[in-house]
Amino acid sequence: MAEIIIKSEQEAAEMAARTIVDAIKANPEFVLGVATGSTPIKVYAEIAKLVKAENVDVSKVKAFALDEYVGISKDHPESYYQVIKVNVTDQIGLRPENVNTPSPDIKTVATAGADYEAKIKAAGGVDLQILGIGRDGHVGFNEPGSSLASSTRIKTLTQETLEDNARFFDSIDDVPKHCITQGIGTILRAKHLLLLAFGESKAEAIAGALEGAVTSSLPGSAVQLHPHVTAIVDPAAGSKLKNLEYYKWVYENKPSWDAI
Ligand code: F6R
Repeated sequence: MAEIIIKSEQEAAEMAARTIVDAIKANPEFVLGVATGSTPIKVYAEIAKLVKAENVDVSKVKAFALDEYVGISKDHPESYYQVIKVNVTDQIGLRPENVNTPSPDIKTVATAGADYEAKIKAAGGVDLQILGIGRDGHVGFNEPGSSLASSTRIKTLTQETLEDNARFFDSIDDVPKHCITQGIGTILRAKHLLLLAFGESKAEAIAGALEGAVTSSLPGSAVQLHPHVTAIVDPAAGSKLKNLEYYKWVYENKPSWDAI
């Protein structure tokens, strides 16, 4: 079962950052899986603070993004390449050549997924994957119906995701309808999954993902197939969990030697 921890967004960011920075100190060649969207923004800021304050060597850390839009250029401020560059690469001080986003280039679209999988494999796999979750239960851009064994490939966004992501663009018509995303199978190959969710709008997806049936209709439920999952959610996002009191009790009684 996933470890489910209830914290405020800021506390969750500090806890996630502490875990990641300690892991980097223990393994300078750490491979971090990064998500875009609003959810992990504070985590990146907290990692950057710790890296600076504790003078952590991140020169060999590699990062792999979950997904990228297809249909806007890499230079577009909302391309995930740019979002990761600003929030992760530049802020934390990673070497740009160590940070990867799937290629949305139409000319190489047929091989882009396999190329990205090969790059992740060559890096030794992702050590810790940060995940947000969509209201419809998507992780990465694996929308409902995505195969639980899928690898990096092109997907079409749902209307709900287009509406949710319209806030980053001038209008909903500007949101690209296609993307290239790590598959559920890719995500499940990461060694540790750190699922974060904040706000009431995520409550149903979180309850479904962590306590519902494992189904491609709610792709986030695939985390139940992974042996090492930590979910840190705020009280609003955790409000529909049936066993909420039990998760709180487990965490309150967590032995000091047991890391997340
Ligand atoms: C982003 C990603 C998505 C988001 C999800 C939640 O790389 O893969 O699955 O994590 O759409 O988005 P926010 O965090 O903006 O609510």
